[in-house]
Amino acid sequence: MTYNIAVVGATGAVGREMLQTLSERNFPLNNIYALASKSSIGREVSFGDDKILKVLSLEDFDFEKVDIALFSAGSDIAKKYGPIVGKTGCIVIDNSSCFRMDDEVPLIVPEVNPDAINSFKKRNIIANPNCSTIQLVVALKPIHDHFKVSRVVVSTYQAVSGAGKPAMDELFNQTKGVFVHDQATPEQFTKKIAFNVIPHIDTFMDDGFTKEEWKMRVETKKILDNNINLVAHCVRVPVFIGHSEAVFLECEKDISVTKVRNLLRDADGITVIDHRADEGYVTPVEVAGEDDIYISRIRKDPSVKNGLVFWCVGDNLRKGAALNTVQIAELLVSKNLKGIKI
Ligand code: A2P
Repeated sequence: MTYNIAVVGATGAVGREMLQTLSERNFPLNNIYALASKSSIGREVSFGDDKILKVLSLEDFDFEKVDIALFSAGSDIAKKYGPIVGKTGCIVIDNSSCFRMDDEVPLIVPEVNPDAINSFKKRNIIANPNCSTIQLVVALKPIHDHFKVSRVVVSTYQAVSGAGKPAMDELFNQTKGVFVHDQATPEQFTKKIAFNVIPHIDTFMDDGFTKEEWKMRVETKKILDNNINLVAHCVRVPVFIGHSEAVFLECEKDISVTKVRNLLRDADGITVIDHRADEGYVTPVEVAGEDDIYISRIRKDPSVKNGLVFWCVGDNLRKGAALNTVQIAELLVSKNLKGIKI
């Protein structure tokens, strides 16, 4: 059985990665369509090493001929087109935050809550979680299953590609500009990002947290366990690809670092590199292009009962976005789930 797939936002950073991932993983494709805004009609995007796709307009596209649409064009486009596309019977897997907390939309990380996918049928929409949440819950799941995590404190160090291709261009241009004494004018970020860090991702909320920090809290509850209490502090750093997280946990059961290390080693989608020596840990430039979440610096937190600290790094465009979306599509295929006209 083969499938007709559309990638919405195919000219963007995540959209391009979706095409690459579909090709690399030999997704059972019949036809593949690359969609973007009207201004991109006729542009070309690569599909795999040797195929080129001509970009078509989302606005004029007939989704009746498509089984699954992978959306990565932001919340406004998802809000406008997601429900219309879902009604045609085409299953939308959306990478934006638009539907994540909708009770009728499953929020899926295949290694963590694959069975929740069955509830997509009311709207034919499935949400892909926030990039920082995905790598966190993949790491938490094996620990939670064994030691019952009660509280998480997480500080993120997030790459600019999480804010899209123009944000990557801004870091590149500002960095070059420093060497020719060109004053950086922030456009995609609120402050200069080159040679700087910015403790602000997404908009501010009334309680002082940013929406990114809120997303990590509520999405972790929805995906993993509503009883987990989480507080996040999210920071943008001048890294092109690869989000890093310093994670501090408290568990209900007595924690054993050796057991945690073994559980993480055995878990799908995780690589542990933790040598407690120079170079014995992983940094974001090393994970660009990798599928797994990398975990290092695992140690006991002596300041609380049953506390654990670790460092977690993942490619935000792959597992944090495109790969997880494609894995959700693969889950639909493996369960033989199909959309029906609503
Ligand atoms: P386009 O290049 O035609 O503007 P990124 O997050 O990397 O900036 O990518 C955003 C993606 O969303 C791009 O592929 C962009 O296409 C697409 N997009 C933006 N606005 C629209 C729209 N009105 N209709 C369809 N796709 C859109």
